Amino acid sequence: MKKIAIAAASVALLAACASSKMAENAPKDGEVGMPSNYQSWPVFVSGIEKSSGHIRDIYINQEGTKTKKGENFPNGTQFVMEIYKADKGTDGKLSKTQLEKVFVMAKGEGWGVSAPEGMKNGDWIYSAFDGKGQALKPDYGTCRGCHLPLTDKDYVFHYDKYFDMKASLDSPSYADMLSAHAGMVALNNAEATQASALLQ
Ligand code: HEC
Repeated sequence: MKKIAIAAASVALLAACASSKMAENAPKDGEVGMPSNYQSWPVFVSGIEKSSGHIRDIYINQEGTKTKKGENFPNGTQFVMEIYKADKGTDGKLSKTQLEKVFVMAKGEGWGVSAPEGMKNGDWIYSAFDGKGQALKPDYGTCRGCHLPLTDKDYVFHYDKYFDMKASLDSPSYADMLSAHAGMVALNNAEATQASALLQ
C-alpha cells in the first residue's frame, strides 16, 4: 500500500517536473516559424481595409476552428495575418499590390511564461515575417501591448466578428428561411398544378 502511494507521489513529481521543463523549453516570441501551408487553412476574417492603405487577411488553423463562442482557443491554435500594401483605384476601392508582412500568433501549453510580467497574453506568443517569409525582429512588446486589453476575447481582435459570422452560417433562423423558401416553392408548384388542372 505504502509502495503504491510513494509510486503515485513520484509520478506526480515527475509530471510536475515535466511541465516546468516544458515551459522552460517552450518557444518564445519570434520562435514560431511561418506555417508554409496557411493559405489552405480556414479563413478567419478577410479583406480588412486599413486607412493606411493596407488590406489584411487572417487565417486560422483547423485546431482553432473547434472553438465555440465564449471559449478560449485551445492550445495548438495558430493565426496567420497577411498584411498587403494596397492602392486606391480611380473608383476609390483598395486593391492589393504586394504582400508586406505576415504576422503569426500561436498558443501552446505554458508558451506565454517567457513574456515579461504585465505583458502576458495568456499562452500566446507572436512572430513576424516580411512578405518573402524572412523573420523580422520587431519589438514584440508592441504586439503584446496592443492585444493585451482583449482579455475576455482571448487576445484576438476579431473574436466576435468570427463567431457571429459562423453563427449566421449555421443558425436555425437561416435554416428556417431556407425551408420556408422551399415551402413556398412547393406551394407555388401546387398552385401551378391546380391552375393548369383548371385550365384543362
Ligand atoms: C496598434 C495595435 C497593434 C499592434 C502593435 C499589433 N497588433 Fe496585431 N492586430 C491588431 C488589430 C487591430 C488586429 C485585427 C486586424 C485589423 O482589424 O486590422 C490584429 C490582428 C492580429 C492577428 C490576427 C488575430 C486577431 O487578433 O484578429 C495577428 C496574428 C496579429 N495581430 C499579430 C500581431 C503581431 C505579431 C504583432 C507585432 C509584430 C502585432 N499583431 C501588433 C492590432 C495590433
